[in-house]
Amino acid sequence: MSGGANSLWLTEWLTSAMDLRPGMRILDLGCGRGASSVFLHNEFDVQVWSTDLWFDADDRRRRIVDADAADAVFPVHADARALPFAADFFDAVVSIDSFPYYGTDDLYLGYLARFVAPGGQIGIAGAGLSADFTGAVPDHLAPWWEPSMACLHTAAWWREHWARGGVVDVECADTMTEGWTFWRDWQLEVAPDNTVEIEAITADAGRHFGYVRAVARRRTDVALDEPITTIPTRYERHPVFRSDPVDRP
Ligand SMILES: C[S@@+](CC[C@H](N)C(=O)[O-])C[C@H]1O[C@@H](n2cnc3c(N)ncnc32)[C@H](O)[C@@H]1O
Repeated sequence: MSGGANSLWLTEWLTSAMDLRPGMRILDLGCGRGASSVFLHNEFDVQVWSTDLWFDADDRRRRIVDADAADAVFPVHADARALPFAADFFDAVVSIDSFPYYGTDDLYLGYLARFVAPGGQIGIAGAGLSADFTGAVPDHLAPWWEPSMACLHTAAWWREHWARGGVVDVECADTMTEGWTFWRDWQLEVAPDNTVEIEAITADAGRHFGYVRAVARRRTDVALDEPITTIPTRYERHPVFRSDPVDRP
């Protein structure tokens, strides 16, 4: 496991709202050590491009080989903001407990959708807000809160955020029922010393934190912008001042 959540529970929950079929090409974006990638291959007989930034692709490959999945799960080291794939290559994108790190950028969905064939799905699941709060962080969350948590949002926020650009049709955006208990129980299992987080999640009891998922389908009738990598320019020298400098006051 790579993060604070059980990636298999989240992948199972997310894919129950997706339409994955044998032979599909899947981008597992922000896959960490790759457990979700192997799971996707084993459960759905799909090919998976197991892509992550922080975790080493060589180490992931060894795990994939040991899981007997090397023929169909391909480890890639890449930044989600600079993906090395061809347009329309994937049938679907799956992203587990990772998307908020880069996907809150207003332009990101349009960028990512370009790698998915028209009509293909993009699905995300992970830690998020079950209900937003305005103003100060609630007292029971303050000891655990850190600035980077500002990227966590509600299912309704993701629905609105994705719908706004018109690139996709949002098919699902919801919160896992009693998700906070899974969050707490997994932490108790793998990181029992992480008392600050466990106490915050327990005190919150699902009022603000939980697991969120969203699934959208790339529209077939919307043309996506090509990424701008360079804008050609040609510099020409011209005098800046038209009058003789001595005439100026
Ligand atoms: C909390 S971990 C989750 C990992 C794994 N999906 C899981 O659920 O166990 C977040 C993952 O997001 C990945 N990530 C964060 N920013 C990224 C970026 N810009 N491009 C690709 N992956 C990124 C990290 O490398 C990390 O593995």
